[in-house]
Amino acid sequence: MNLSEFQSEWMPRFDAFLYSELDARVPSQENLHKAMTYSLMGGGKRIRPLLVLATLSLASVEISDGFAAAAALEYIHTYSLIHDDLPAMDDDDYRRGRLTSHKVFGESTAILAGDALLTAAFEILAESATISADKKVKLIGLLAKASGPDGMIAGQMDDVEGEQKTLTIEELKQVHDNKTGALIRYAVTAGCLIAEADEAFTTEMEGFSRHLGLAYQIHNDLKDVVLDETETGKTIHHDAALNKNTYPSILGVTGAIQELNGVIRQAEGCLDRVALSYDDAEDKIEVFRQLLDYVRI
Ligand code: IPE
Ligand code: IPE
Ligand code: MG
Ligand code: MG
Repeated sequence: MNLSEFQSEWMPRFDAFLYSELDARVPSQENLHKAMTYSLMGGGKRIRPLLVLATLSLASVEISDGFAAAAALEYIHTYSLIHDDLPAMDDDDYRRGRLTSHKVFGESTAILAGDALLTAAFEILAESATISADKKVKLIGLLAKASGPDGMIAGQMDDVEGEQKTLTIEELKQVHDNKTGALIRYAVTAGCLIAEADEAFTTEMEGFSRHLGLAYQIHNDLKDVVLDETETGKTIHHDAALNKNTYPSILGVTGAIQELNGVIRQAEGCLDRVALSYDDAEDKIEVFRQLLDYVRI
């Protein structure tokens, strides 16, 4: 199955689940509901939930068993973007070709919509009827770790503090690994955990997710420099204006593209090894191979 077939089959169902979880949780607060919906249903690519669901498919288990973990992850990702765009953070006016949350609803509502998405994520996981209690506890712990002070928040803190200094490429890699990589790794780890995948499969797929996570942020850095605003849906050249450390700011555009291509090859190597080890994997692994096309320049 290719990526677009997988998306057409699963993402409308997943989106309906994502929205129903929201609708069930904030019935009385009209502005909060509007702000949460605006960002959650506002044109995100859904790469992280797709990774959860595709991992379940690859491991040959029921794909909808991953809906709660995938929804929780997308809630956290969405909150992280609302807060990342705030004036006190990256001060962005546009995302996904539309005004950012605080521009539409004001800063306090945007902050609270982010807080609400963050906390609702854990509620969705805790209340899921399709995952065992044992797995839920593990998934909640791993999601807290990936999104918290030892994961995404550590990366965001280093990213903000990095505006005052020049990082080495090794330091920047660590920032990217935390701020963007941690949630992408969680997607695959959660899928493996729900599927009760064996150790060799889990190791290779987690390796894949580590490379994909880094490639994803290098690609994001490059988009700010080489694409135009209709393609990014955001204000371009914004990283340089904020004095951000990025792959192109340290290595130049050509060096950053070379680095990106090297990381993509490493990700492909993990997929090749999974395809070799599991008889029926090649067809389902196509989804992951095509996902890498998102990060190619
Ligand atoms: C943007 O992530 C921010 C990063 C962590 C690189 P995505 O590019 O996945 O955002 P959406 O949800 O598709 O807009
Ligand atoms: C966003 O990183 C990472 C998180 C929100 C955790 P960036 O600030 O580099 O991403 P964009 O450019 O705003 O999408
Ligand atoms: Mg940022
Ligand atoms: Mg930003």
